[in-house]
Amino acid sequence: MLHLPNYKTTWDAKSTTPVHAMLSVDGSASEERIRATGAYTARQVMAALDLKSTDRVLELGCGVGRIGRELAPHIAHWEGSDISANMLKIARERLSGFANAGLTELTRSNFKPLPDASFDKAYSIAVFIHMDKEDFYLYLEDWARVVKPGGLLFFDTWNTSHPSGWRRFAVELNPFRDVVPTERKDVARNQFSNPEEVRSFLDHAGFDVVEMFSDSPWVQAIAMRRGGGDIEAERRRVRAAKDRIAYSPLWTELFDNLIASQLEGTMSLTAALETMQDDSRGEEVSLFRSAFIEVWRHNEESWGPIPEHLIKP
Ligand SMILES: C[S@@+](CC[C@H](N)C(=O)[O-])C[C@H]1O[C@@H](n2cnc3c(N)ncnc32)[C@H](O)[C@@H]1O
Repeated sequence: MLHLPNYKTTWDAKSTTPVHAMLSVDGSASEERIRATGAYTARQVMAALDLKSTDRVLELGCGVGRIGRELAPHIAHWEGSDISANMLKIARERLSGFANAGLTELTRSNFKPLPDASFDKAYSIAVFIHMDKEDFYLYLEDWARVVKPGGLLFFDTWNTSHPSGWRRFAVELNPFRDVVPTERKDVARNQFSNPEEVRSFLDHAGFDVVEMFSDSPWVQAIAMRRGGGDIEAERRRVRAAKDRIAYSPLWTELFDNLIASQLEGTMSLTAALETMQDDSRGEEVSLFRSAFIEVWRHNEESWGPIPEHLIKP
């Protein structure tokens, strides 16, 4: 197991080249695929935060700018922040065409270099799943400083209250069973939460929950900075936009097949990839298929070759 001392060292080690960085942010190994997954997630963020061309928006844990690259053309300013200088270097190259994009390197669990109330909205995707609870909370607390009263927040984390989220958690248990405590904790390991915990963190940090979607392995939270805004109007808007924000039953089904085959070994790799062939079921199918194939390619030595008839663009 990886045993690196802090978030910065760990994530810098995962992003020494653009391909390694892309693989560690969402399993993408090509610019084409990262644009496709970035567009998918950016649409969720735009719907959750109701992004407008006048908005100044802050992302925590922007990685290579997968999402920011797709959002920057639609907003006034996008600020990507991350603990890893290597990730930010790649993000800087990928966003070099956008004059309205900025990048901030973080050193602790706060947004220290950024001024108070300087953002209308903020978000973070697939970041709190890799963080200790104390750091998760500290970032929420400092978001309350940099986001304007009435400003919106959107983020996600693993959700053990859903059977698929529990299944993902269970995968982590076995490697922990027999290892001595000082040896077993990779600082960037997967970490898990649930809607109740997220609600309590938000409340203590100074945010009101607008809505939480948790019918998937993810808790997806939308919240409002206390001290302004019309929360009931936001609740009506977000509920009407649920289909564009929440993960679909199809997404969860494909995720389950990925876990069963790649992590649990309870389903064959070939059978899982076969469930990812029918594009007419929804755009999630092709996103999962290309991710699945890329991870398989990187493991062909131990998993064997990918059946030719299951590879399509
Ligand atoms: C799985 S990647 C997701 C990147 C991006 N949000 C996306 O969805 O493409 C996690 C990102 O969070 C960053 N990160 C991890 N721990 C962090 C911390 N404690 N503070 C700030 N960023 C962190 C990593 O450097 C990495 O870029």
